[in-house]
Amino acid sequence: MARKKTTEKLRIVIVGHVDHGKSTLIGRLLYDTDSLLDGRFEEMEAASKKRGDIMEWSFLLDSFQAERDQAVTIDTTQINFVHEDRDYVIIDAPGHTEFLRNMISGAAQADAALLVVDAEEGVQEQTKRHAYLLSMLGLRQVAVVINKMDKVGYDIKRYETVASETVSFLKSINISPSKIIPISARNGDMIATRGEALEWYDGKPVLDVLGGFDPSRLPLARDMRFPVQDVYRLGEKRVIVGRLESGILRTGDKLLFSPTDEEATVTSIEQWPDTKGTKKIEAKAGESIGITLDKPIFVERGHSASAYTTPPMLSKVFRVHLFWLSKNPLKVGNIYKMRLNTFECPVTIQSIDRHINTSDLSFQDKAGQVGRNEVAEVTLRTADLIALDSYQDNYRTGRVVLYEEGDVCGGGTISMKGYADQRRLRKPKSENITKVDHLLSYERRATREGYGGGIFWLTGLSGSGKSTLAMKVEQALFEKGYQTYVLDGDNVRHGLNVDLGFSPEDRAENIRRVGEVSSLMAHAGLICITAFISPYRSDRNRAREIFPDHFHEISINASLSACEKRDPKGLYKKARKGEISDFTGLSSPYEAPENPELTINTEDNDIETCVTQIVKYIESNVKLATQESNIENFEEKALAN
Ligand code: ADX
Repeated sequence: MARKKTTEKLRIVIVGHVDHGKSTLIGRLLYDTDSLLDGRFEEMEAASKKRGDIMEWSFLLDSFQAERDQAVTIDTTQINFVHEDRDYVIIDAPGHTEFLRNMISGAAQADAALLVVDAEEGVQEQTKRHAYLLSMLGLRQVAVVINKMDKVGYDIKRYETVASETVSFLKSINISPSKIIPISARNGDMIATRGEALEWYDGKPVLDVLGGFDPSRLPLARDMRFPVQDVYRLGEKRVIVGRLESGILRTGDKLLFSPTDEEATVTSIEQWPDTKGTKKIEAKAGESIGITLDKPIFVERGHSASAYTTPPMLSKVFRVHLFWLSKNPLKVGNIYKMRLNTFECPVTIQSIDRHINTSDLSFQDKAGQVGRNEVAEVTLRTADLIALDSYQDNYRTGRVVLYEEGDVCGGGTISMKGYADQRRLRKPKSENITKVDHLLSYERRATREGYGGGIFWLTGLSGSGKSTLAMKVEQALFEKGYQTYVLDGDNVRHGLNVDLGFSPEDRAENIRRVGEVSSLMAHAGLICITAFISPYRSDRNRAREIFPDHFHEISINASLSACEKRDPKGLYKKARKGEISDFTGLSSPYEAPENPELTINTEDNDIETCVTQIVKYIESNVKLATQESNIENFEEKALAN
């Protein structure tokens, strides 16, 4: 069979509940477009006749696929057909699990989908699951086919019932199908031609609807992303190779590499085969290229280049809308290998934030584990900063795949909502600045006072009791003769941090400034107590790094429901009504400390008990062992005054 040359290619997936007629539809599409290998159809027809069957298209497909499969090494099967000058590729897989795996791992990047629904059975569990997956992966060109219309006597009423049931589910997951076509894949009604049995339907047959879909649009308009696949040395030249996933790259562009933050300019774009004489000056999304740079910066596989001014975010923590495939459930604390473009690293499941029931789209908060074929929103953590794009911003680079012993076990789309970019403030902005040494050391101050300054960092949800405890501890320490001061979130936000709100970036800046101020206070010999939600581990760790020997993290622990019940400022109530956005614990994350120096449970203990615990901890940490008597003298002096 001669194939026509075409310029356009549309990649489609056909999804739906088991036995709703996916294979039959594929077989019929191939037959109607004359895409079957010569002689195969007649052979099958003869065999069917002998058995007295009506031709079963799925049998045909099976044998067709078996032929193809021999030549296919990966587990994606691509079935081609041509219709009206357009090339179509049906992306399929030998089994249901492989199919899902391909969709999730990105092996099957489709432009459009056909969702098959049985006219007799209507919407079933897998119909919903598959549709959800289409929505999750951002596939918006979807047509529904209501199959097996022959079995319901081509009844318009039945069509209308199933169509409305399907559309209302799809609507709830933000898919508006372009068409809902009644078909009989087995009899060929409304596939290539309208047939005669469905006269009441005034729409177009399937092949015409496919003809109306747009073939893949490469993400040229998105920010440039060039994940490094490898670095080759060709004599003197060092060529960085990879596939341009989005945007446009030109010679002379200033690039920023992530996560290293190294900068360099593109001196040439290499191409293969080398077309001697013509210099390539521009590459577009989808092209595999090599580039050379003006500087010998450190670059390796997994690093990612972007335009200097529009880099990806850097973070150790991010959220993933995850489809789980493994028979072993996903649990908090589990570690998996993650692939993110060309980058691979271990990743820990920090939390399972929401479990999504794909049948009724209900949410469950904080479910303990995610089972096979289930969908959840999870928070992942890596040991080092990595480059991340939200799927919403870049559908090529914003997805991850997780592996368990070499097999794809899950995957999904990245959301950076609720997390701040950490690519900031790694070095001073100004150049002509030099540090000046103090003549008085921390130790000298501590020796004279009998205790050293320190930072006692209270972290916890709003309403957990941080401010109340901090003020009481401050008072108690003062009475005992210590110099101490509380930095409190609500107070600091009226002055030093009056310019900051509650976005992840503003919170990070809030904590950065307070981290610096508290360290200055501790250096000055004060016992500094801070009372900030400080919801992000990375921000608290950064505060710790400023003065690590004298930083103490104190987790003020109370459950979200207890804090919400207390609601001292009425903020939870407002947040529930939608009047406050980014509210910690409700619409913004709180990452509890992993290894705090002290944990105070304010749910089971009264205030006085908690204050005593904290004061005791602080005293035992600030007092100089050899100077106990000094302190006592000091206390006596204080009392005498
Ligand atoms: S932090 O997250 O940046 O550390 P911070 O401790 O300074 O927060 O401020 C928290 C206090 O601000 C809360 O105790 C609460 O009174 C008030 N607040 C106002 N809006 C919010 C919000 N969206 N999320 C949390 N707290 C808020």
